[in-house]
Amino acid sequence: MKLTRTLLGLASLVLATALPSPFSHTTTTTSSSSSSFPSTSGLEFTIDGTTGYFAGTNSYWIGFLTDNADVDKVMSDLKSSGLKILRVWGFNDVTTQPSDGTVWFQLHENGKSTINTGADGLERLDYVVSSAEQHDIKLIINFVNYWTDYGGMSAYVSAYGGSTENDFYNTTSIQTAYQTYIEAVVSRYKNSSAVFAWELANEPRCPGCDTSVVYDWVEKTSKYIKGLDAEHLVCIGDEGFGLDIDSDGSFQYLYDEGTNFTANLGIETIDFATFHLYPDSWGTTDAWGNGWITSHGAACAAVGKPCLLEEYGVPSNHCSVESPWQQTALNTTGVTGDLFWQYGDTLSTGESPDDGNTVYYGTSDYTCLVTDHVAAIDKKNAE
Ligand SMILES: *[C@@H]1O[C@H](CO)[C@@H](O)[C@H](O)[C@H]1NC(C)=O
Ligand SMILES: *[C@@H]1O[C@H](CO)[C@@H](O)[C@H](O)[C@H]1NC(C)=O
Ligand SMILES: *[C@@H]1O[C@H](CO)[C@@H](O)[C@H](O)[C@H]1NC(C)=O
Ligand SMILES: *[C@@H]1O[C@H](CO)[C@@H](O)[C@H](O)[C@H]1NC(C)=O
Repeated sequence: MKLTRTLLGLASLVLATALPSPFSHTTTTTSSSSSSFPSTSGLEFTIDGTTGYFAGTNSYWIGFLTDNADVDKVMSDLKSSGLKILRVWGFNDVTTQPSDGTVWFQLHENGKSTINTGADGLERLDYVVSSAEQHDIKLIINFVNYWTDYGGMSAYVSAYGGSTENDFYNTTSIQTAYQTYIEAVVSRYKNSSAVFAWELANEPRCPGCDTSVVYDWVEKTSKYIKGLDAEHLVCIGDEGFGLDIDSDGSFQYLYDEGTNFTANLGIETIDFATFHLYPDSWGTTDAWGNGWITSHGAACAAVGKPCLLEEYGVPSNHCSVESPWQQTALNTTGVTGDLFWQYGDTLSTGESPDDGNTVYYGTSDYTCLVTDHVAAIDKKNAE
């Protein structure tokens, strides 16, 4: 999701006191045999020995928290709710170094990138991974944003040269820096049982580009990741744009944003598909979402890899709008999980960021979209 109203909320979170990480680079792993890592089985996921459908959510901010107890609270609440997959931002790119106490992961300046592995850097992500391990939560960790929130592709472009974000995908110096960052993150957590999947980017688009630009980048990057870590799943993080099945001619089904959903899913080193759903910002009706879900399920079934409805949200009426989508996803062959956008909880600093789409732990919306949904999933997985 493109964030617009969440940044102020986060400012208070990053001011909290940093605690020392129990978790340094050399002690990152709770070793676990590769056979126990999450995998795909036909059109479904297998996690910790269970094959079927899984629910989860998104927290872009959890890696930027500075109080370990807050991270643990989120993980504990997710676990007790039966949410299994958590998607987090594995990037936090800046173009000028922030003052101490503000979390950032990578600085891009004057044709050079510097990775912050310190206490206000990747050690914050280390704690998320270690807490996820302890709570049996599986993480999707992504490496860059298409949007400018937390830096994004434009942070690379501004440091290395180029005229638009589109230059991110095929400028050699930028791709070298991006791969160096990927290697830093993957090598830190590659043995971790908490990794569900590595994800190339959040919502990559290349408006007006031939779809070969993104296709080539997906192919090259996913191959590179498999070379670093052959055991974990790899996905793209795209919104699912560009597919012919059941197209109603709306822009999401077209190729103008530079992605071909079906072609990209066919790449050997991509294990499953991702797609998002935001009728409010996309100018569609809420009910349109059901067709968006079934068309992706059909596309995934045709390619023979599972689909994850990785983000979905609306600014109001969360339960009545999103519950039908969840039911559609759960009964669509080819769709094997959904992650609502976004998770909310009460932290030591107050409520976590609210962009209108937030579903807070313990509310009636939460009962509807998490408790009831997880019960329906458990029932189906047991069939
Ligand atoms: C790089 O991508 C741009 C679109 O952003 C395209 O115009 C250009 O031809 C591409 N260059 C190469 C070498 O593929
Ligand atoms: C990960 O596991 C492999 C094989 O079990 C081992 O060789 C490697 O050193 C481990 N890496 C880390 C960072 O612990
Ligand atoms: C998208 O990819 C599919 C599968 O490779 C292909 O059949 C289709 O022609 C592509 N569409 C466009 C517009 O590139
Ligand atoms: C699937 O879910 C939708 C709710 O969106 C419902 O209308 C439909 O009847 C369900 N189909 C089956 C086969 O359960």
